[in-house]
Amino acid sequence: MVKQATTFLNNGIEMPLLGLGVYDMYHQEAENAVGNALEIGYRLIDTAAMYENEVEIGNAIRNSAVPRKDIFLTTKVANDGHGYDNALRAFEVSSQKLNADYIDLYLVHWPLKNLRKDTWKAFERLYEEKRVRAIGVANYLLPFLHELAEYATVIPTVNQVEFTPYLFSEELLQACQKRNIILQAYSPLVRGKRFDDKKLIEIAKKYEKTPAQIILRWAIQLGVSTIPKSVKIERLKENFDVFDFQLSEQDMAKLCTFNENFRICENPLDML
Ligand SMILES: NC(=O)c1ccc[n+]([C@@H]2O[C@H](COP(=O)([O-])OP(=O)(O)OC[C@H]3O[C@@H](n4cnc5c(N)ncnc54)[C@H](OP(=O)(O)O)[C@@H]3O)[C@@H](O)[C@H]2O)c1
Repeated sequence: MVKQATTFLNNGIEMPLLGLGVYDMYHQEAENAVGNALEIGYRLIDTAAMYENEVEIGNAIRNSAVPRKDIFLTTKVANDGHGYDNALRAFEVSSQKLNADYIDLYLVHWPLKNLRKDTWKAFERLYEEKRVRAIGVANYLLPFLHELAEYATVIPTVNQVEFTPYLFSEELLQACQKRNIILQAYSPLVRGKRFDDKKLIEIAKKYEKTPAQIILRWAIQLGVSTIPKSVKIERLKENFDVFDFQLSEQDMAKLCTFNENFRICENPLDML
């Protein structure tokens, strides 16, 4: 098995940098994708209450030959699970659906107006009670991170945000690094919408890799965790096959100039 890149969270827990995102896959298709991914070598699975597939993800993990301790499982509280008591309840529901003794990483899915502070306090309790190995946030752009710093007693381990060469923020990356928070890139492949970019294709040709592999490798070399989604076995393999080459400093820098502020998902700042 190839050696994959991992990182250490600010509480000392090891997390693979590359994982499988499981948004928009359901039923048997979701179980198969996770089963295939684990067989290929993926060890991080990123789901959410909102994805309505926690039961299938849990089944796939239990049915796989990979020991649970070797898998890093993330789920997230949905927007209707915000607030202190509500978040504690939502966590129980997710745990039951996943049928997991523990969850590795629990994320606040969106920085919901008014309630995000209470939600974070519930997360801190779950962490202190050792129900989760790590807690973190998603979609926390700078204003949300600054606000969180005012009341958090536990610093988030991870901030999962939309992050690609086409939506690149050096400022956000540095702010996370300064706070010892791992930035995790969601929709890292821009859902395929930039694979026809000539600048990207040129770099891909040079390394004899695909545009998807170049984008994923770029994230990994930045120390950014990345969670591409696919239900297709060939693409699962392709997206995992990024540990046998290295982008040069010049090509890394070039990819960092591709920014177009191009977003797939809603801008979290609209939640302010
Ligand atoms: N925290 C948040 O708010 C948030 C928001 C969005 C996403 N996420 C997480 O991030 C994960 C990934 O993001 P995403 O699903 O939005 O988008 P993505 O990973 O950028 O792209 C997935 C799309 O690209 C296709 N694809 C995958 N690999 C490919 C390849 N090598 N070549 C060509 N096409 C390929 C997939 O189709 P097939 O499946 O048909 O292969 C799918 O349509 C999600 O699954 C979820 O876990 C989190």
